[in-house]
Amino acid sequence: MRDDATDLGHLPGEDGPPIIGNTLRFLRDPAAEDRRFRAQYGRLFRNRTFGRRVVGVADAELAEQVMLDRGQVLSSRDGWGHLLGPLFPRGLMLRDFADHRRHRQIMQAAFTRQALQSYCADLDAQSRRGVGAWVAAGQVTFYPAIKSLLLEMAAVTFLGVPLGDEATRLNRWFIELFAAGAAALRAPVPGSTWWRGLRARRRLVAWFEAAIPERRGATGTDLFTLLCNVSSEDGDRFTDDEIVDHMIFLMVAAHDTTASALASLLWYLLQAPDWAARLAAEADALGADAIDEADLERLPLLDQALREALRLNPPVRYIVRRTVEACPMGEHALPARCPVAVIVPGVHEDEALWADPLRFDPDRFAPGQARAHKAAWIPFGGGAHTCIGMRFALLQARIFLYHLLRQATVESAGPLGQRWRQVPVPMPVDGLPLRLTPRSPS
Ligand code: HEM
Repeated sequence: MRDDATDLGHLPGEDGPPIIGNTLRFLRDPAAEDRRFRAQYGRLFRNRTFGRRVVGVADAELAEQVMLDRGQVLSSRDGWGHLLGPLFPRGLMLRDFADHRRHRQIMQAAFTRQALQSYCADLDAQSRRGVGAWVAAGQVTFYPAIKSLLLEMAAVTFLGVPLGDEATRLNRWFIELFAAGAAALRAPVPGSTWWRGLRARRRLVAWFEAAIPERRGATGTDLFTLLCNVSSEDGDRFTDDEIVDHMIFLMVAAHDTTASALASLLWYLLQAPDWAARLAAEADALGADAIDEADLERLPLLDQALREALRLNPPVRYIVRRTVEACPMGEHALPARCPVAVIVPGVHEDEALWADPLRFDPDRFAPGQARAHKAAWIPFGGGAHTCIGMRFALLQARIFLYHLLRQATVESAGPLGQRWRQVPVPMPVDGLPLRLTPRSPS
C-alpha cells in the first residue's frame, strides 16, 4: 500500500505536538477528543494520531457521502488495512468495489431470513443455559462473562462444533487472535501478544482447512457449513482459502461488537430503573420459556432500548476509508490516499439530529418517530459495506436479553463504574460486576 497523503494543511484541524501528534490525548479519552475537534473545527477536520494524518467526518450528510461512495473513490481495504490487514487479511471489509460485491453476494446467502431462523433455536437454548448458570451463582462480571458466552454460542452457531474440548481450544485461539488486534507492539517477538496472535491465526487456518472437505456437501445449519455450500444467483462459490479468510473475519466482526452493545444497554438500564422495569414487564407478558424470531415482534420496547444503547455507545466508533483519487468532500477537496474516518458518535450526538443527545431515551425509536436524516443512526454503517451481520446481532442480543430480564433482577454489585475504555470497542473498565437475583415472573 502506498503512503498516506500528508498535504492536508488546507483543512481545518491540528497536527498536535511533533512526532506524537494528538495520540496521547486520543488514547486518554477518545470521546472527549472527538467532541473537542467537532466543537472547535466543525463537521470535517484533520487530526494526527498514531503517526497518521486522518480526516475526521462528524456529520450525517458527509457520513452518508462516505458510506454510499457513489463515485467509488473510497477504499475500505486501504482504510482498514493497516489496522486489520495483517491479522484478518481478505475479510469482507478488506475488499473493495467489484471484488467486494462478488464476495458479498455469495456471503449474503448465509444471512437470509431463513438462515437466521435456523440459528434461533441454538441461540435461545444457549442464552437460557448461560443466564441460568449466572443466576445460580448470584453474580457475574458481565463483560468477560458475556464474551465467553458469545464465543461458546459462536462455536455452535458459527462453527458447528459442539461444546467440549475442541470448542474450548478453538475459542482460546480466537481469544489470542483478538488480543493481538489491540497489541501496541506489532512485531513477532516470541511470547508477545502479536506473536501469539499470528500463531493462533496459523492454527485456526489449519483447523478450517482440514474441516472444509467434510463440510462441503453437508447439511448442517451452522454458518461455516452454509458458507462451504452457498453460491450466488449465478452459481459462484467460495474457494477453500476464501472460506478460511471469511470465517476468521466473521468471528472477529461478530464477537466484541455484540458484547459491547449488551454491556452498554445493561449499563444504561442500571441508571434507568423505570426502563428496566418496563422491559421486565414486557418479557413477562411474552412469558415463553423458549422464543424464536417471530416472538421478538412482541418485544418492541426491548428493540427500542437496544437501538438507543447502540446510538449512545456505538461498538464501532469509526468507519474508516482511504481515498483512491482526489475527490470533493462537502465544501473541501481531499487529495488521493487520504485516510477518512466517519466518527459515528459525532453523528449520534449531533443536537441538530437528536434532542438532548446524551440522554438515554429509547422512546426516540418508538413507532411513528421520524428520523431527522437517513444517516442519523449508523451503528451498523451504511452503503455497500453495511454490516452483513446486523440482523443476526439484533436477533442474538434480544434473545439473550429476554432471558436475562425474565430470569433475574439485575443490580450493580457496588457503585456503578463510570469509566469505559473506547478502543478497540467500548468496554466497561471494571468489567461491569452485577448482582443477579432470581425473579419469579409476575
Ligand atoms: C452490535 C453488533 C455489531 C455492530 C455494531 C457492527 C457494526 C458494523 C459496522 C459499523 C460495519 C461497517 C464497517 C465499515 O463500513 O467500514 C460492519 C461490517 C461488518 N460486520 Fe458488523 N457489527 C456487529 C455485529 C456483526 C455480526 C454479528 C457479524 C457476523 C455475524 C458481523 C459481520 C460484519 C461483516 C462481515 C462486515 C463487513 C461487511 C462488508 O464489508 O461488506 N457484524 N459491522
